Amino acid sequence: SLGLKTEDFGRSIHYEEVVETTQKVAHRLANEGAKEGTIVVAEEQSNGRGRMDRKWVSPKYTGIWLSIILRPNLPPHKAPQLTLIAAVSVVQAIEEVTGLSPEIKWPNDVLLNGKKITGILTEMQADADRIASIIMGIGINVNQSKEDYPPELQDKATSLAIEKGQKISRAELIQALLLKLENLYKIYIEKGFHPIKLLWESYAVSIGKYITARTLTGAIAGKAIGITDEGVLLLEDGEGKTHHIYSADIEIG
Ligand code: BTN
Repeated sequence: SLGLKTEDFGRSIHYEEVVETTQKVAHRLANEGAKEGTIVVAEEQSNGRGRMDRKWVSPKYTGIWLSIILRPNLPPHKAPQLTLIAAVSVVQAIEEVTGLSPEIKWPNDVLLNGKKITGILTEMQADADRIASIIMGIGINVNQSKEDYPPELQDKATSLAIEKGQKISRAELIQALLLKLENLYKIYIEKGFHPIKLLWESYAVSIGKYITARTLTGAIAGKAIGITDEGVLLLEDGEGKTHHIYSADIEIG
């Protein structure tokens, strides 16, 4: 048992030794009618998925590879807000369990000392005006050692154990994560995005900095001036024009 203190989140847990990706399992369960808060956790993913069609390396026993099913009664354009909620909950859980202070790079990379520690992938099933289900995938690099990363990744990615100098309990981290996520999700459903936005901004590194946003169609450089109430990034280019960035990779500097 994971010793959960949550009300709903993680009350139904599908634990797997190896899967292709927890996202696929969660999509199937959602289609079969699984309740909100159902989670899929695996020790290893043979074909972990990242954002923008990338792979997510998910070696055995070292990380948290988890997908959670959410069923908010919301229109589809609100989905990015849920991703920001997940990023805040990861930061809070890592702070609580390890004492380390991670930062968020828009939209949802969690960094320690400028290196990526967590990725979040939000996939949605919806019709034109309602979300049917959100499959939120969270990958946290917990106990990898430095040698587990190829040299070309060593200044881009890290693990909690590398940064902390000791191994971290994955069970404790999952407990903390689900509790934070559930709390923030309830606040969001009751009070809207504003309180989440304030928390998110307090952890964000990119706001106020010069960044390059690489989208599928090209790159835009400028100053990140904030996020909208929908969670969309606002970028001011050299001519003072403001761009709304819905999906991109951000490079700071
Ligand atoms: C990113 O590109 O930063 C997002 C990575 C998301 C990884 C997690 S691990 C659990 C879930 N299953 C997957 O295949 N991907 C997500």
